[in-house]
Amino acid sequence: MPIIIDGKKTSAEIKDEIAARVKEIKSEGGKTPHLAAILVGADGASQTYVGAKVKACEYVGFDSTLVRLDASISEEELLQKVEEINENPAIDGLIVQLPLPDHISVEKVTAKIKPEKDVDGFTPANVGRMALNWPTFVAATPFGIVELLKRYEVETSGKHCVVIGRSHIVGSPMSILMARNGNPGNCTVTLTHSRTQNLKEITRTADILIVAIGKPEFVTADMVKEGAVIVDVGIHRIEDASKKSGFRLIGDVKFDEVAEKAAAITPVPGGVGPMTIASLLHNTLLSAEKKVY
Ligand code: GUN
Repeated sequence: MPIIIDGKKTSAEIKDEIAARVKEIKSEGGKTPHLAAILVGADGASQTYVGAKVKACEYVGFDSTLVRLDASISEEELLQKVEEINENPAIDGLIVQLPLPDHISVEKVTAKIKPEKDVDGFTPANVGRMALNWPTFVAATPFGIVELLKRYEVETSGKHCVVIGRSHIVGSPMSILMARNGNPGNCTVTLTHSRTQNLKEITRTADILIVAIGKPEFVTADMVKEGAVIVDVGIHRIEDASKKSGFRLIGDVKFDEVAEKAAAITPVPGGVGPMTIASLLHNTLLSAEKKVY
């Protein structure tokens, strides 16, 4: 049986570590970390995510501000709101929940966020700092994966890491983080995507396989080397009448058959997913303690 990399447990540990640090800060008379989230419109999934982020702030003892804006808000008004929070010294971290309505430019809004408060790690300045291996806010999912590999003491140095998917928020930063000089890191990295030829031949040589392609159960046992470490970033709802909720969650990896060959694997749910909020809290604490800028 492979090691099951437990993101739920690890995320709970990180939250408790952060809560302990916040207690210390407060007892020393320091500033309580404060996260602000902007939610535009009433997208169901976004409301759930933002709600979970606010709840997590309460759990660790952070202050939080949720700014709800109507979907019809103009781009200019949203940019002004971002500017207002940029200039508010009480707030350490700002996230603008994505997706945004079509009439608003994600690029313009992201670029408006002060890098010093960009705890999502989405601004060009912070992505650039990550690429340079400078102190920065690393985006939630890549940071969560790095933290899981570190805490499970996965040996990465000199290994071949194959990443499937080149999105700006997961695959692309993951390839940079795994190649850079650090721990985890020092991998030989292959970044694969929809145009990659002979994908299976490549994935079969992976010591560490990070899958963020967004296709249910895309990775099958024949694509995986015996003893590989598998990180599954995908999350898909599949209708299942036998479940009380009416659905179950699966990843980008066909878990049961791949697990038989793997040395370690992240499950879905309970793997990478729960780590993302812990990452956001981590970044907000870094910002409040002025550890990046
Ligand atoms: N939408 C989906 N994931 C994220 C995230 O990590 N940050 C923000 N701001 N929006 C998202």
